[in-house]
Order: sequence, then structure tokens, then C-alpha cells
Amino acid sequence: MAVLAIHHLPDPVLRRKAKRVPAIDGSIQRLIDDMVETMQQSNGVGLAAPQVGVSLRVVVLQMPEGEPIALINPEVVKRSGEREVAEACLSVPGYAGEIKRSVSIVVKGYDRQGKAIRIRATEIMAQALEHELDHLNGALYVDHIESQDKLHEIEPESESEVR
Ligand code: NI
Repeated sequence: MAVLAIHHLPDPVLRRKAKRVPAIDGSIQRLIDDMVETMQQSNGVGLAAPQVGVSLRVVVLQMPEGEPIALINPEVVKRSGEREVAEACLSVPGYAGEIKRSVSIVVKGYDRQGKAIRIRATEIMAQALEHELDHLNGALYVDHIESQDKLHEIEPESESEVR
């Protein structure tokens, strides 16, 4: 495994729509393993492949005290509710903001072994899934900021729950 370099705005890879993974092979599994290591080393709760410069539909997530989860070619099946949340992103260092996210979400996709999976999530996990799936479509949380007073400069050391 290896820690990969995280790409920051305004790198165009972050704005590209990522391509579907055609086959889940060893190279994709290696990418997942490296993304998990990179996420853990950065204290993130999620990471999307475009953030490491790979324009493919792959995300990894890890809730505090949970196991890492990989999701390939994920699609939103359903979302419901709305709540205001605090958010930050490893690709937008030095900032945090408040935006609206769904309360619950159902996502389908494939796991590291290529098995079809369906995830039902609420609250922080739903937020993390929406955040990572946005990355696959070239969207960032800052796009959801409704007014300038909802985006704040922060000390990089004080970042928490960064994705
Ligand atoms: Ni992010």
C-alpha cells in the first residue's frame, strides 16, 4: 500500500466527471487499498478517486470506529430529508462551511470483490456518501454554499471530519 498525493483545487481532475470502472481487477483493488491508506493517514472519513488524480468512480469511507468501506460505480437509489451540516474537504484545505445534506440515503454499487452492495445510511454516513459521490461528478461541497458567511477559513490543524 502507498499514501497517494491529494489533489487540491483548482486541479481540473476535481471538476471532471469520473468514468465508470469497467472491470474490478487487481489494479482497482490496489487503488482502493492505497486510497484507504491515504484517507487514514489524512484523518479523513472518506476519499474519492479524483482526489488522488484518478478519474474513476471509486470511493472509500471509514466512520470513526468502523471498518473501511469501498464503493465502486456507486449510484444514489433514494435520498430523503434535509439538514444543515458542517463540512470540509481534503481537496479544499484551510476552509470549512455549512451546507444542506440529506438525512438519509440509499446507495448501490459494488464492493472491492465486485459483489453488488446496497448501503442505507443516515446522518454522518449519509453526509459522507453524498460528499464522496459529488466528487465523482466533479462537484465539491463549496458548490452548495448558499452565502459567503457559510464558508470559513480555518487552521489546517483544526480540521475534523475532512473528506
Ligand atoms: Ni472531499
